[in-house]
Amino acid sequence: MQVSVTPQSPLTTPADALVVGLVEGARALSGDIAAVDNALGPPAGAPAGGAISHLLTLGDFSGKLNEIAVLYTYGALPAPRVILVGLGKAGDVDPDRIRQASGTAVRKARDLGCRRVATGPLGLGAQGVDAPASAQATVEGALLGTYQFREFKTGASNSGAGDKAVDELVVLAPDVADVDALAAGARAGECIAEGANAARSLINQPANVITPDALADFACQMAGRVGIKCTVLAEREIAEHKMGGLQAVSQGSARPPRFVILEHTAIGASTSERPLVLIGKGVTFDSGGLSLKEPAGMENMKADMSGAAAVIGAMQAIAALGVPSPVIGLVPMVENMPGGQAYRPGDIVTMMSGLNVEIISTDAEGRLILADALHFSKRYEPRGIVDLATLTGACVVALGEGVAAGLFANSDAWAGKVLAAADASGERLWRMPLYAEYGDKIKSEVADLKNTGGRTGGVGASAYFLKRFVDGEGACPWAHIDMAGMMFSAETKGCQPKGAVGYGVRTLVALARQ
Ligand code: BES
Ligand code: MN
Ligand code: ZN
Repeated sequence: MQVSVTPQSPLTTPADALVVGLVEGARALSGDIAAVDNALGPPAGAPAGGAISHLLTLGDFSGKLNEIAVLYTYGALPAPRVILVGLGKAGDVDPDRIRQASGTAVRKARDLGCRRVATGPLGLGAQGVDAPASAQATVEGALLGTYQFREFKTGASNSGAGDKAVDELVVLAPDVADVDALAAGARAGECIAEGANAARSLINQPANVITPDALADFACQMAGRVGIKCTVLAEREIAEHKMGGLQAVSQGSARPPRFVILEHTAIGASTSERPLVLIGKGVTFDSGGLSLKEPAGMENMKADMSGAAAVIGAMQAIAALGVPSPVIGLVPMVENMPGGQAYRPGDIVTMMSGLNVEIISTDAEGRLILADALHFSKRYEPRGIVDLATLTGACVVALGEGVAAGLFANSDAWAGKVLAAADASGERLWRMPLYAEYGDKIKSEVADLKNTGGRTGGVGASAYFLKRFVDGEGACPWAHIDMAGMMFSAETKGCQPKGAVGYGVRTLVALARQ
């Protein structure tokens, strides 16, 4: 979808649809919306006001968030249809609601077969919504909301929206003076949504396609496109670095592991500036290994690389936006399988940090690969670390499926920054505690620690396990996001089509831009 910002009026802009946002209980229309309304009537003998006013007077459109109505313009405007979308209560309009409304409206346009869509900067002028924020949310919502994954649908089964696609989105600046600010916001929205959609596609891809090697290749190709450095550690280098966790998990699979390093060095920034480090769990398929998972739902474990996808998508957006501070992405990639060389319950694995871990469950594999990545990150002397992982079913039980991800942090200040970034991005994140008792659960009789605790408190134990690899020399502000409940969305809503969520990209980019 090509995005542009122009100071043109909706009365003269050619398009297949014009999107108009309205708040709940809107009565007196103003600006461009009033101009569109006037152009749409009134018919002879009707009360003053045009088709939009008429709809509101009849009570046929309330303006509730994501409500849609389509009006036909019969030649009164260059666009043959106007898509009205509800923004919710005036006092509640914020970037998240704008993103949702834009996604709903532009998806509707797509389903109607529109190729060129014009829209105002939705919600502009609402409390706290300036030009860049409005344009960013409008564009982000449109791109996120119309995302589709159809790579494996051949002709006959290519039903639904099929090959319908909006290929042009025109944001109409109400005031020439706002064009630059709107364009900057639109560009940010475009980069961020493209990063999130790239993450969604990686997640939606099956595990026979997205192997560790293929995921590493994808990351490198992306890095080449946006001009950042990409280094891939293959088996030999992984062994040289003594990444025992990553090696152990990889043993049961015929597909070798990879460890990818993405480096965004900000142009003009001082080389001594400490980087933000982003780490993503890249388990391309989690069968559970010898601690085999039950068959029901196992197909969803192709998405156990959602943390990796978030980091790769975020690095793409960060580079494309030219964020003025250094950011490093570390992505351990592995397949967890029960092959003849598989690691076993009872094995003791020496991690890169030197700590010995007793394996209780081979299905608690994510923490093992993340632990090596967390230890590896110390060489960068980060100003802060965020790791993202589909780490525990316990987190899904605690916070719900599709409701929120869990946040753990060793610093209140850092937790506050990550929560603020999530909030600004419209991604749900809820802080959880790191009580010392969770650490007691993973004490081992024979090694330094074990990889699972007991039946209860599993999400705390998993986070505490990671903390053991952050603590000590070189400890820095660290946050861990357990996004196990945020892999897939069961329904289409707002800017989220059914399927992979691409959770985390928006939060990571907002954090890097802070
Ligand atoms: N990838 C899973 C966690 C998961 C479960 C993500 C459901 C998304 C949906 C992880 O590797 C895992 O298997 N965790 C175990 C840990 C347990 C063995 C301590 C779990 O949650 O059951
Ligand atoms: Mn597992
Ligand atoms: Zn897993």
